[in-house]
Amino acid sequence: MTAISDSIAVLPGLPVPSPPRGRFDSARLHRLIAASRTMRSLSIGLLARLELAFLAGHKQPDVLAAIKTARSGRESLLSGNEAFTLYSIARAQAALGGDMAEVGVYQGCSARIISLASGSATLHLFDTFAGLPAPDALEHARMRQGHYAASLPSVRAYLADRENISFYAGLFPGTAQPVAGSQFSFVHLDVDLKSSTLGCLEFFYDRMLPGGIILTHDYSYLDGVRAAFDEFLADRPERAIELPSSQAMLVKL
Ligand SMILES: C[S@@+](CC[C@H](N)C(=O)[O-])C[C@H]1O[C@@H](n2cnc3c(N)ncnc32)[C@H](O)[C@@H]1O
Repeated sequence: MTAISDSIAVLPGLPVPSPPRGRFDSARLHRLIAASRTMRSLSIGLLARLELAFLAGHKQPDVLAAIKTARSGRESLLSGNEAFTLYSIARAQAALGGDMAEVGVYQGCSARIISLASGSATLHLFDTFAGLPAPDALEHARMRQGHYAASLPSVRAYLADRENISFYAGLFPGTAQPVAGSQFSFVHLDVDLKSSTLGCLEFFYDRMLPGGIILTHDYSYLDGVRAAFDEFLADRPERAIELPSSQAMLVKL
């Protein structure tokens, strides 16, 4: 797990720090694990079960039961704490009105968690469903085009019992035109790549309600995600708020 002391925001323009010599590089370990489905299920799955077991000591049982149900039968890249944070923010933001969106749906686990917390908000789900687009030269060593491909009919079936959900298959932001006139209380980004993250921020930022939240996965695991946030926010008043997990969020002023 990432130590709290690792979670110091990087000032825009400065290089992302490597862990000091001799210190455990949890981001590197995460990238190695993420490349293999078996490793993911052994490690992220086990971590999620442990974290949810700890949360059971002080969180509402019905919330944890909902998260566990969403995780069962579907692969997710979210740890237990990350899944809880996703649920908790979506539930709080539902009071703001406006729509919600996720870019990076994969098999639909995180989308299901949002939908369980989103109340009557419309949830827009964007993914290529053909996996990751082409990584840039720097990301190429770690990312593979087509990784995380998923079947749209299978994701639709998994979410068939949830209301107010719309699907948009294809490369974002090319698929965003139908929601160009919407305003958002909550957006979840889990797209792994710098170009994808930047495209999402450029589209959603001006469409966030005041107090709206954009939450991203992998800010501290993937340099491209961190760089996209830090570059995008460099000349804007908001800052990326790093959480103790791999997640970070911005609150629209
Ligand atoms: C790590 S997976 C998402 C995992 C999912 N949120 C979960 O918790 O199970 C990353 C996803 O981002 C999608 N993706 C990345 N860039 C995209 C883009 N520009 N447009 C649409 N989908 C994109 C990929 O297709 C892939 O399904």
